[in-house]
Formats: sequence, C-alpha cells, structure tokens
Amino acid sequence: MLNLGILISGRGSNMESILKTIKRKKIPINPAIVISNNPNAKGLRIAQKLGVKTEIIESKGFKGTREEYDEKIISALSKNGVTPKNGLVCLAGFMRIISPKFVKKYKNRIINIHPALLPAFPGLDSQKQALEYGTKYSGCTVHFVDSGMDTGPIIIQAVVKVKENDTEESLSKRILKEEHRIYPEAVNLFARKKIKVYGRKTKIT
Ligand code: GRF
Repeated sequence: MLNLGILISGRGSNMESILKTIKRKKIPINPAIVISNNPNAKGLRIAQKLGVKTEIIESKGFKGTREEYDEKIISALSKNGVTPKNGLVCLAGFMRIISPKFVKKYKNRIINIHPALLPAFPGLDSQKQALEYGTKYSGCTVHFVDSGMDTGPIIIQAVVKVKENDTEESLSKRILKEEHRIYPEAVNLFARKKIKVYGRKTKIT
C-alpha cells in the first residue's frame, strides 16, 4: 500500500482531518509518519492520539543549508516507507519552503493546501490579502508542489463567499472548513490513482 507522510508546523487541523477521513472512508493509504519542524506543534499530540508515529526534526537553530535540512526529512520519510516510488507527502501548515532537490526527488508526490484560490494571493496571510483586495470570493486550493511559491498544478479548489462584515478570523474559519473537506478528498483521489498530471494541468479521472 501507498505510504503517507504529513509535514506540519503547528495546529495540525488539516492533518487531523486527513487522518480521520482515511480511517472513516477506508482510503487505501497507510499514515506512516507525521513530521514537525517545531517541537511544540499542537498537531504532534493529535497525531499520537490517533496512533500515528511522529518525529521532530527541529529547524530552529539548524546550522546547515536548506538542502541539508530537507535531507533529514527525506531520510525520515524513506525510513518509514514514504519513498518517491511508494509515497505521498502532504504539507499541512508546514511553514518552510522546501528545496528544489526535495521537490524533484518526489515529483508530483508532494501536495499542499493553500487558503486562497490560487493563483490569487500566494504566500502568507492569504485571507488578509483577499479581504484587503476586496475580492467577493476566496477559498482554498490543493495543489502539487513545484519549485515555485504556491505555483504547482492545481488538484481541487473550493470557493468561499466573502461577506461584507468578514474579519480575517471569520473568513479564515469558513475557508478552513472547506480545507478540511478538500484536502482529504485530494488524498483519496491520489491514493486511488485518479489524478493525472499533464504539464501544469491535472485531470481527475
Ligand atoms: C491552513 O490554513 C493551511 O491552508 C495553511 O496553513 C494553515 C494550517 O492549519 N497552509 P492547520 O495546521 O492545518 O490547522
């Protein structure tokens, strides 16, 4: 079976939603390892409670290069069966940019969730960016990771209507609800080999 590695840095609510949906819907993927770069990530405890192995690879104070850090991640993933041949890596609030070498090694096997309708509002604070821009709709995007910032082929998007009195908090909350729905769905599609990638486009079969 396919092995899943999830990389987190904090709250871990998307990770939780993925892990619970795998169980509930019997998605054919084995949650092999959750890795955090932050030893205090709340998500670590959630993963442990759900019976998933965790590992901390602290990035704060790490003296080497980005590539050297990523080598540690790759080695932990591989040790747990999350390989470029038989693995899927989900970035779930992982607050680091990953090196081109890592991306290349796991080509079209690393996916990410972004709280905006890409290509609008990439990078940080996307919900705030959407509000300040005055868009009437925002949402979230699950996409493959390439070497750019939030630029890889899009797998699923969900639209959320922006309300006139929305704050960053209220909009983020409604977007997060959709994130928790579409991220596990993307994992399900991947596990069932239903996503085909053509250049920067994907087709769900
Ligand atoms: C989510 O809003 C996600 O879209 C973004 O970071 C946040 C992570 O939240 N990439 P959580 O750790 O999954 O709760």
